[in-house]
Amino acid sequence: MRGPRALTTRRTTSISPESYGLRLNGPVPLLMLIAPSLNRVYAGEAPRLAAAELAVTAGVEVEPVVIAGVDYLRIDAEADQRLLATVAVQSAKLGLYEDVAGLLRPIELAKVDLLDEDLVTIPKYPGKTNEQLTRLLLNVTLSQVALPPGPRAILDPLCGRATTLLQAWRLGHDAAGIEADEKAVEAFAAYLKTYLRRKRLKHSAEMTPVRREGKSLGKRFDAEVSLDGRSLSMGIFTGDTRQSGKLWGKRRFDAIVTDAPYGIVHGSVSDVRGGGRDRSASALLADAIPVWAGQLRTGGALGMSWNTLSTPRERVAELLASAGLTVRDDGPWRHFSHRVDSSVHRDVIVAVREV
Ligand SMILES: C[S@@+](CC[C@H](N)C(=O)[O-])C[C@H]1O[C@@H](n2cnc3c(N)ncnc32)[C@H](O)[C@@H]1O
Repeated sequence: MRGPRALTTRRTTSISPESYGLRLNGPVPLLMLIAPSLNRVYAGEAPRLAAAELAVTAGVEVEPVVIAGVDYLRIDAEADQRLLATVAVQSAKLGLYEDVAGLLRPIELAKVDLLDEDLVTIPKYPGKTNEQLTRLLLNVTLSQVALPPGPRAILDPLCGRATTLLQAWRLGHDAAGIEADEKAVEAFAAYLKTYLRRKRLKHSAEMTPVRREGKSLGKRFDAEVSLDGRSLSMGIFTGDTRQSGKLWGKRRFDAIVTDAPYGIVHGSVSDVRGGGRDRSASALLADAIPVWAGQLRTGGALGMSWNTLSTPRERVAELLASAGLTVRDDGPWRHFSHRVDSSVHRDVIVAVREV
């Protein structure tokens, strides 16, 4: 066995497994099997990131372990309903077991996704945010939303071809976005329409021009899908994210989740009016974070991944704090940074608008 020291945050309230019909052998440790494909995404650092995600979202002690050459997370907590529901949505989970004196007994996890995984895996394009990282970012951000339970309204203000919005839909949330690259929004709209039609899902989807005071402001894509008796909505504006407040008007969001430009594949559009494009993701974040913070409901959370080689973590934390948000910065929150390649070192940060 190996692994960094255990990650600790607050404990969950205990609910007896018997109350929902599970026969568990507890109290024994639980082992979450980590999807091996993740090591491609995180360059061998998947166990550490997965442990931080679970520690943050479940509020339990988690330790990465290797058993017979395979990566697991060891969880020393009671397998209550809330813990099992949290494990079921983890970005890295492949399965869950009870460790009964060295023998692994599988525990069936609930199927949580409303839409198939191929919704997010089919699109392939340069600059796409990895689907698992997007799910991790959504999970850790949503875990910090202090609002009554229920479907959330989630904004990705740099949405590209909508990986965040699709992952939000899969989890049963409403989604909204802004993207400067009109062609990317058009390509996404075409993809989504084809996908929903092919899967024979009841839906509507249309692209419309946006005009204010006689001036053209770009386009807007709106879609709705009906699933299991409820409908999920999605809306995307083309335009500069710094205009997000104007474009979305009075609408407030429960969570803002975004993967900021790395300054490599995508430059950040620093001067959309002049059509200029610079390489400074920092300048964009300095302008945009106060705008996004103003769109967050009280009790809401903002989660972001970005390239720390262009903007250090301390600077991002400072921008979030200056915008009136409280940054989650201790314990497992400091375990998300990882190398993507020689020009991208990615980190994850979450900040909340406290009640
Ligand atoms: C890292 S990519 C996000 C990719 C997205 N998560 C996906 O999987 O498709 C950042 C996106 O921000 C967009 N962008 C950069 N500057 C922008 C601005 N000022 N306003 C709106 N979008 C911008 C880029 O065009 C790019 O699509």
